[in-house]
Amino acid sequence: MQNIQGAVAFITGSASGIGLGMAKVFSQAGMRVVIADIRQEAIDSALRQFPAGNPGVVGVQLDVADRAAYVRAADAAEKAFGKINVLVNNAGVGIVGSLLTATYADWDWDCRSTWAVLLTAFKLFCRVSAVMTKAVTSSRHLR
Ligand SMILES: NC(=O)c1ccc[n+]([C@@H]2O[C@H](COP(=O)([O-])OP(=O)(O)OC[C@H]3O[C@@H](n4cnc5c(N)ncnc54)[C@H](O)[C@@H]3O)[C@@H](O)[C@H]2O)c1
Repeated sequence: MQNIQGAVAFITGSASGIGLGMAKVFSQAGMRVVIADIRQEAIDSALRQFPAGNPGVVGVQLDVADRAAYVRAADAAEKAFGKINVLVNNAGVGIVGSLLTATYADWDWDCRSTWAVLLTAFKLFCRVSAVMTKAVTSSRHLR
């Protein structure tokens, strides 16, 4: 991608881990970033890790498996920054630790969450992406 100064990235699951890492790198490179995550307290904590008063970073609470919330988050992001240029479908869950010590409840939670995130979110992401990418300005298109 060329001409990334001021471009807008919407990253799901970006209040921690890999997503937050991407948000920081994108921001340092001059992009504006939407931190979208299911955990509001983690969003608040993530925002504190950016320079104070940085107008190029906003947080939106979003469960990527919630259809209505996804559309609301996309609207909020566009209201804050205008057109979205980069979408990162990063949100996800996993069992941390030994498979042997994971309980059936852990596995049930993992399976439900993973299917919700992988399938529902992927479909929603594609739909929202399609709406957003139509609006992306030609000077910032992905190469
Ligand atoms: N770290 C790894 O080794 C590894 C390996 C393979 C795949 N992944 C995948 O990479 C992605 C990021 O992994 P990570 O290690 O940074 O994990 P992480 O747990 O640090 O971050 C995931 C983020 O997603 C958010 N999230 C979870 N469910 C959500 C939902 N329904 N809606 C919105 N946000 C939600 C969490 O709150 C969290 O902030 C995940 O999809 C994970 O499955 C990671």
